[in-house]
Amino acid sequence: MGVKYPIIAGAMTWISDSRLVTSVGKAGGFGVFAAGNMSVNKFKKEIKVLKEKKINFAVNLITIAPNYKKQLQLIIELGIPFVVFVGGFPRKVDIKVAKESGSKVMCFASTESIAQRMIDYGADALILE
Ligand SMILES: Cc1cc2nc3c(=O)[nH]c(=O)nc-3n(C[C@H](O)[C@H](O)[C@H](O)COP(=O)(O)O)c2cc1C
Repeated sequence: MGVKYPIIAGAMTWISDSRLVTSVGKAGGFGVFAAGNMSVNKFKKEIKVLKEKKINFAVNLITIAPNYKKQLQLIIELGIPFVVFVGGFPRKVDIKVAKESGSKVMCFASTESIAQRMIDYGADALILE
């Protein structure tokens, strides 16, 4: 994942903003930016800040958030190194478009069958939680 230490700071809505993700990245870990239900404008500004930091990071998208579709569109437009889908299963097409835009995709799986489904959908990595 392009970081010095194999440590991920899991996303926390309204806490894992660009400042926390930058601190984690600069310390050699892997930060995950929490999109939560952030507005399009705030999301754009935050991602712009993160992209200037020259660190590897993920954006955590909550598939049931009201702004999810707009956020996914921005992911595709802005180009994000990693995307973590959470909050219900991502649709296969959502994983596909994220990957086509250049992102590596990570999905949560709490059972073997969910893990298998996410692999079938094209997930690059699984978070077993
Ligand atoms: C305040 C708070 C907000 C969280 N928000 C998110 C979130 O937006 N997306 C997500 O995938 N997980 C979220 N989580 C879950 C964490 O990323 C993590 O998976 C969870 O805290 C378990 O990790 P731990 O055992 O290291 O605490 C949140 C956790 C906390 C405490």
